[in-house]
Amino acid sequence: MTLEKLYELAKRVEKEGETSFLAFLDGFLQIKTSEPDIYQRFRGIVEELAADFSFEGFYPLLVFFENKFLKSVKDEDFLQIETTDSNVGVKHQGVIVLHNLRSAFNIGSILRSAEAFGFSEVVLTGYTPGLDNPKTKKSSMGVEENLNIRSELSIEKVLESYGEKGYDIFGIETHKEGKSLESFTFPEKAVLVFGNERFGISKEAFLYIDEWVYIPLMGAKKSLNVSICAGICMNHFVVGLKQ
Ligand SMILES: C[S@@+](CC[C@H](N)C(=O)[O-])C[C@H]1O[C@@H](n2cnc3c(N)ncnc32)[C@H](O)[C@@H]1O
Repeated sequence: MTLEKLYELAKRVEKEGETSFLAFLDGFLQIKTSEPDIYQRFRGIVEELAADFSFEGFYPLLVFFENKFLKSVKDEDFLQIETTDSNVGVKHQGVIVLHNLRSAFNIGSILRSAEAFGFSEVVLTGYTPGLDNPKTKKSSMGVEENLNIRSELSIEKVLESYGEKGYDIFGIETHKEGKSLESFTFPEKAVLVFGNERFGISKEAFLYIDEWVYIPLMGAKKSLNVSICAGICMNHFVVGLKQ
């Protein structure tokens, strides 16, 4: 039994649960002589799991293999969506526009936050991968059931149309020409625009931005991951509504 094979068995346990644990246990016993250090290190955990299996108890083993084989896991692998109506809140009028984002993982993460913070709509503009992209679909984990998500090629048309409906348009960007989020409250009818992970908000949107807003940072890096930035801004938006 190689460690790679044992890792395969561990992945089966994660997928199928206790029913696959016996096969893993069998594999684990087989590494007693070939991998004595690892056997000793995890022996206690495996014995406990054999007596009383739990996923949480199995995690140290999984994480060990993931580190060993440099496998990364994504947030979407853990997300559980509650679909009961009782926890679905009332929507406000805030809108999120994601222009030319590249990473489906970032988009999924932002969609999840937008739904959680009660935003009414997310518009994916330019080349931002939409729900027709399986990766976006996967990382959004079903939040589209409770959130309007649409794709539009032209950010100009989208922002123009929100402007006509009385929305203020905010470019959330790293440069400090705008207002610091710390001393700023969004109005109720607001569109928050976020830009590409590398290049920021692109020029075609500039004409439609009423105000620029930045999050002041103290570290050496000049910017945040866009999904972290969006989460901070969404929370700030909602807190502002309550004041
Ligand atoms: C990683 S940033 C792109 C930064 C870009 N390379 C630049 O010129 O600084 C991607 C997006 O995240 C958002 N963002 C990240 N950090 C921010 C900050 N401190 N303030 C405002 N927006 C930020 C913006 O929407 C930006 O378009």
